[in-house]
Amino acid sequence: MADLSAPATRPANPRFSSGPCAKIPGYSLDMLNDAPLGRSHRASVGKAKLKQAIELTREILNVPADYRIGIVPGSDTGAVEMAMWSLLGARPVEMLAWESFGEGWVTDVVKQLKLDAKVKIAPYGQIVDLATVDFNSDVVFTWNGTTSGCRLPNADAIPADRQGLTICDATSAAFAMDLDWAKLDVTTFSWQKVLGGEGAHGMIILSPRAVERLETYTPAWPLPKIFRMTSKGKITEGIFVGETINTPSMLAVEDYLVSLKWAQSVGGLNGLVKRATANAKVVWDFCAENPWLQNLAETPAIASTTSVCLKFNDPRIKDGEAFAKAVAKRLEQAKVAYDIGAYRDAPAGLRIWCGSTVETADVAALMPWLAHAFHAEIAAQA
Ligand SMILES: Cc1ncc(COP(=O)(O)O)c(C=O)c1O
Repeated sequence: MADLSAPATRPANPRFSSGPCAKIPGYSLDMLNDAPLGRSHRASVGKAKLKQAIELTREILNVPADYRIGIVPGSDTGAVEMAMWSLLGARPVEMLAWESFGEGWVTDVVKQLKLDAKVKIAPYGQIVDLATVDFNSDVVFTWNGTTSGCRLPNADAIPADRQGLTICDATSAAFAMDLDWAKLDVTTFSWQKVLGGEGAHGMIILSPRAVERLETYTPAWPLPKIFRMTSKGKITEGIFVGETINTPSMLAVEDYLVSLKWAQSVGGLNGLVKRATANAKVVWDFCAENPWLQNLAETPAIASTTSVCLKFNDPRIKDGEAFAKAVAKRLEQAKVAYDIGAYRDAPAGLRIWCGSTVETADVAALMPWLAHAFHAEIAAQA
């Protein structure tokens, strides 16, 4: 008979949502006091903040000097869609997906842009083998599948001398995983993910080849102003020094700056990657000791270190979806883990955000609670 008494220790921060993700440790609104509120984002004070956000992003992510970094509207979705609408159609397209957001980009390209793309979708738990992909086509993929917990281990299979562009949604990877810039022509992410920033703003990072495409190709469809990165056939350089297309939230910009400075304080990218990896390892080790809980990712090489997706494996469970929801609800009610139910389109289970802002001690404190909620729910079912 399992011990049903509640664990003695609780996570100090029960926020394990996969977006918006936990704020940086020790966060308080006082940290935003330097935000130039009520001032124009085009005044020198606002422009300087936006430029600093771009410069710190470059520094922490080790983005090459000849890649452009822009702050764009519409969060990560806005950044991915502005890339696809601006760049695709010039060459054949391959769309790769290993969870629901990647599948969303497939829908955009096939149903909205109506491109005759080659579509490769891996089932939840797997990724598409990049060795099967023709990189002389433009290729769109998601580095870390937030809803499947499956990620690319690296970009080694992408040839350096490819003819096509690679467009990578890296929103749940950037700042927690090493991104191989030489292999990425367009990379996008949002502030609300790994650094625990705010929603609404997205980042787009363009290689020189992506810029060349923008300057030499005009899509057959109309582009709304919010997607336009060129003017009269030339890249709009202002976007990439902080002259945003439309009005950003200077409060959100300040918040991003605070997160970036925290990122520097924990050792920059290496420190961030280590934090996420240590967090995920706590969950992996727990799964190894408790066979009733399994990583959705079928092999360790592709297992996410940010959005760790889990499934229950126990013959006593009758309705997998109801069971997983009930466990998540117990944890939420106990105030030890918020928002850890699997994504609505993903297989039933749990998803525990282990990104860089999460403290390893909190993940460790959560594990006995997982066991507690699991056994309590098994008992309740019986
Ligand atoms: C892989 C991936 N792509 C896109 C999105 C959408 O991001 P946003 O809501 O910031 O536009 C998410 C959000 O969780 C995501 O995980």
